[in-house]
Amino acid sequence: MGTVVLGTGSCLPKRILTNVELESIVETNDEWIQSRTGIKARRIGGEGEKAYQIAAQAGQRALDAAGVSAEEIDLIVLGTISSHMQMPSCACFVQKELGAKNAFAYDLNAACCGFLYGFDLADKYIRADHSKKILVIGVETLSTRLNWSDRNTCILFGDGAGAAVVGHSDSERGLIDSNFGSDGSLWRLLCMHAPKSLNPDLEVEDHPGCHLIMEGREVFKHAVRAMEDSVSGLLKKQGIGMESIDAVIPHQANIRILNKLAERLAIPKEKLFLNVSKYGNTSAASIPIALDEANTEGFISKGDTVLFCAFGGGFTWGAALTKW
Ligand code: ACO
Repeated sequence: MGTVVLGTGSCLPKRILTNVELESIVETNDEWIQSRTGIKARRIGGEGEKAYQIAAQAGQRALDAAGVSAEEIDLIVLGTISSHMQMPSCACFVQKELGAKNAFAYDLNAACCGFLYGFDLADKYIRADHSKKILVIGVETLSTRLNWSDRNTCILFGDGAGAAVVGHSDSERGLIDSNFGSDGSLWRLLCMHAPKSLNPDLEVEDHPGCHLIMEGREVFKHAVRAMEDSVSGLLKKQGIGMESIDAVIPHQANIRILNKLAERLAIPKEKLFLNVSKYGNTSAASIPIALDEANTEGFISKGDTVLFCAFGGGFTWGAALTKW
């Protein structure tokens, strides 16, 4: 008896940016990017593909898959760090686009953990009131927030949106448990500044611009360790081992992080869902896009024990376990 996903959806911008095309933007090459990250291409938003627009499309697809109308949604919780406006929230734009007139809506800033934290939050609302139906979305248009002359970052990220409609089920299925953590003291390793202050007293010294900044090597180490610890802690709490897990849907950061994680946690290759080669790192959108593909392609089936894990700016990290 628990909170189940009633339907999933995703939306990827039409434009595909390949590694070879990136060679004309920064000093890089396809071989370097593929061998270091596993990424072959990523999607880049164009006209009509702002964050709220692709989020609304992903949301509508999730509603259609669930057989739930927009009016039946009580809450839209949306993870993003790259909406086109700071206020209103991206979630409010999505609410308007979908005509979800009975829903309240807000954004959640947890970088790559945005969807997972949103799913967990939805579970708490639904446990308090079984009649609630919640649309959880992860969306990014990070192409708008990248320094396109910084080859350390611009090769890694992409745009996209994923969504899930969640509600209560009397069955044995549903979200089992989660294990989350954060560490604000390491914020400098992966960050993105807000617009420059218009109040001189609150100015940030040496404001570098509003693009994403990253210390790649440090992030790599912390990402592997934090995801490993959160998964191990969760499995221990549940008294189960990796053999009880049918599928792992991780944040698609890059292939080397995921290979290292799989090695440390002894995750068999065939249980690990990967699509990073097609879309790069789409931050908050990464898990819901992967979930939608895993769901529609039959990688996961009803009754499977599915493990999610993520790591992102903040730092934020976590793992969640569900009976699909
Ligand atoms: N193309 C070609 N060469 C490059 C590129 C590029 N795009 N970027 C860096 N290089 C060069 C560097 O300049 C350096 O050259 P040098 O030896 O002459 O100085 C060399 O390649 C090695 O650079 P490193 O930064 O040491 O490369 P590394 O092997 O660490 O790989 C990478 C870099 C891929 C960013 C890696 O550190 C990483 O995966 N970090 C994790 C980052 C990540 O996934 N962040 C996502 C956000 S957090 C999350 O989602 C989990």
